[in-house]
Amino acid sequence: MIVTTIKCGIMRFILVGTGLMAQEHIRNLALVPGARVVALVDPEPCSITWARESLRNSFGEKAADIPAYADVPSMLATTEADAVIVASPNYTHHDVILPLLETDLHILCEKPLCTTIPDATDIVARTKGRKGIFWVGMEYRFMPPVSRFISDVHEGKTGILRRLALHEHRFPFLRKVGDWNRFNHNTGGTMVEKCCHFFDLMTCIVQASPVRVFCSGAADVNHLDENYDGQVPDIIDNSYTIVDFDNGVRAMLDLCMFAEGAEEQEQLVAIGDRAKLEVGIPSGIKILSPRVPVGEPKAVTREVIEVREDVLAAGHHHGATYYQLLAFLEAAAGRAPVQVTAEDGLLAVKIGTAAEISAREKRVVRLSELEG
Ligand SMILES: NC(=O)c1ccc[n+]([C@@H]2O[C@H](COP(=O)([O-])OP(=O)(O)OC[C@H]3O[C@@H](n4cnc5c(N)ncnc54)[C@H](O)[C@@H]3O)[C@@H](O)[C@H]2O)c1
Repeated sequence: MIVTTIKCGIMRFILVGTGLMAQEHIRNLALVPGARVVALVDPEPCSITWARESLRNSFGEKAADIPAYADVPSMLATTEADAVIVASPNYTHHDVILPLLETDLHILCEKPLCTTIPDATDIVARTKGRKGIFWVGMEYRFMPPVSRFISDVHEGKTGILRRLALHEHRFPFLRKVGDWNRFNHNTGGTMVEKCCHFFDLMTCIVQASPVRVFCSGAADVNHLDENYDGQVPDIIDNSYTIVDFDNGVRAMLDLCMFAEGAEEQEQLVAIGDRAKLEVGIPSGIKILSPRVPVGEPKAVTREVIEVREDVLAAGHHHGATYYQLLAFLEAAAGRAPVQVTAEDGLLAVKIGTAAEISAREKRVVRLSELEG
């Protein structure tokens, strides 16, 4: 669901982790009337400086004049706020979130929820009974073309869904502060770190439980000439993953991270017993192709799903960060449900972990193996 208007009131945000993604959050917060940033947390002074520059550019001179802290406990001791965005590296999420869960703050935690199933399971348990909401940043659901694709499938435009294919053909992983994203132990592995978005889309679209996963993937092209204290990056840069669901739907993710020249970065294709539905990003072109008897004229309909220019300019995720933020604020205000729960975050980590094991051990991994 896309929320296009919002009565936010004043919403005071804390940013934990002020690197690349936090800059995108700052630019998008500036588009929401009433939203402002009241504290920054990052152990790296350069990142704090970067965030202050972004605050100045997005909100005006005075907005940069806010306290900064090296860790969450010291920030909590002196800060009054309504919400917090956690955008620190994946491997820090669990420990960063723990003290935040002891407060009433509304929490938006960047994906993936955690790098391991035990850590993500622990967070799910600790979110129970809190006053503030907990939301995992699976924001691809909120790209306007993707949101429309999801609602078309749920409205039955394909008939009964049988197949779902998701393709991401894009550029290699960007540089991060301290190069943390070059190693599986920091990220959870590419199938968790990056592909949690797509596994979340699968479960959101299919609305059934994943049963088994087969992933063929490896580090074949990217980062192989890089060296960090004698270690070469070990992250998968391309893969095919098949996920079977308990309602019989088969889903597929095709990831290639050395395809920066591709015209469409993401393509989603759903086929049911009555029609094929596809959408591309960034074109926003959505095509519905109903089945017709062989020899009869095709009955294809095309539509372009646009995204507001200022929203596109505020991020690198085709409007997802902004529309997710609006939906988060609606949920925090009690006017809408949390759309991406801690449980959703855990499920995406489970499928991603199954895919990592599958690629490594070259076998099918059942989700039931990962329980307990
Ligand atoms: N939603 C998306 O599509 C999307 C896109 C990019 C990144 N992300 C996620 O956002 C998070 C941050 O990624 P990034 O690209 O901004 O990385 P980054 O390296 O650019 O920034 C991370 C920042 O966190 C800081 N940090 C490290 N340990 C910390 C701690 N314990 N407490 C507070 N801050 C700490 C680092 O100093 C750095 O400034 C990751 O979880 C990543 O997966 C999500």
